[in-house]
Amino acid sequence: MNPTDYAALIHPAIAVAFVFPIIGMVVNFAWQTRQRRLQSVGEGKSKIPPIVGQEHLKLGKWLTGAVVGVCLLGMAYPTFSKAIENQAFTKQPGEMVFLILMFAATIASLVFLYKAQPRLWRAIFAFLSSLGVLVIGFQDIILRREGLGWIFRRDYEWQYSHFYYGITVTLLMIFSLAIVKEIYQDRSNRWRYIHIFLNCFALLLFIGQGMTGTRDLLEIPLGWQETHLYKCDFTNKICP
Ligand code: HEM
Ligand code: HEM
Repeated sequence: MNPTDYAALIHPAIAVAFVFPIIGMVVNFAWQTRQRRLQSVGEGKSKIPPIVGQEHLKLGKWLTGAVVGVCLLGMAYPTFSKAIENQAFTKQPGEMVFLILMFAATIASLVFLYKAQPRLWRAIFAFLSSLGVLVIGFQDIILRREGLGWIFRRDYEWQYSHFYYGITVTLLMIFSLAIVKEIYQDRSNRWRYIHIFLNCFALLLFIGQGMTGTRDLLEIPLGWQETHLYKCDFTNKICP
């Protein structure tokens, strides 16, 4: 394996070793929070301690940061490794500066979202961090430049695309963080049910990320194999 191959493993390794364990803990506390609330409404008393909701929120906040981080990392690797390979920093410096600023602006918006209290500011920073993720993901369309846009989106098979699942789940995590106050303040539980519905879907997407990510690892060749393997006819499954 060459250094680029090792760099390609940073994103999947962090996802497997750090993000997925947090997902497990968040879901476990989510289930207990729900059980406790239903038992308290029905039987009046629950043996589940009241702290589970707070623990779910504490780890949920970590999860949002971790998912946005791993998503940005997943997009940073193809963007910058191919940029170095194609000498884009000297050939298209303006575009590269724009992309670096987009990464920085997305992270900054998320930091501000963690800090923001008024509804309007939470909406603004949630919008900006989501926009940042989308602009980076669709950089080729936004920059309209030949040779840019190295993120493999699997547009021809978007239903099984690691990119589209990843972006959707990232936006859902940002939304969850943005509506925490609404979940607690809304006595009719409407925001709570919106949260449950959206994040049950997010959970399916996380499972999808595990499956599509491992498939992609299997498909991407090692550096020294690339020149040989890309001579293959992938439609007819024949190699010279
Ligand atoms: C896979 C991800 C997630 C799932 C499946 C999930 C699911 C749930 C469920 C089932 C509940 C209990 C609702 C009830 O009382 O019936 C809940 C509550 C809640 N969730 Fe999540 N959630 C996820 C991620 C997040 C994230 C990322 C955040 C915030 C950053 C968050 C914030 C909250 C809050 C504030 C509550 C209310 C807790 C309480 O009652 O004390 N959740 N969630
Ligand atoms: C929360 C979980 C995850 C999120 C949000 C996420 C997100 C992303 C995104 C947005 C990309 C860039 C688009 C693309 O190339 O497909 C990407 C790339 C990738 N991800 Fe993930 N991912 C996650 C988990 C995983 C896991 C568990 C694995 C494998 C075990 C994995 C393996 C890969 C691979 C191999 C790439 C391709 C990198 C390249 O283009 O060279 N990902 N990921």
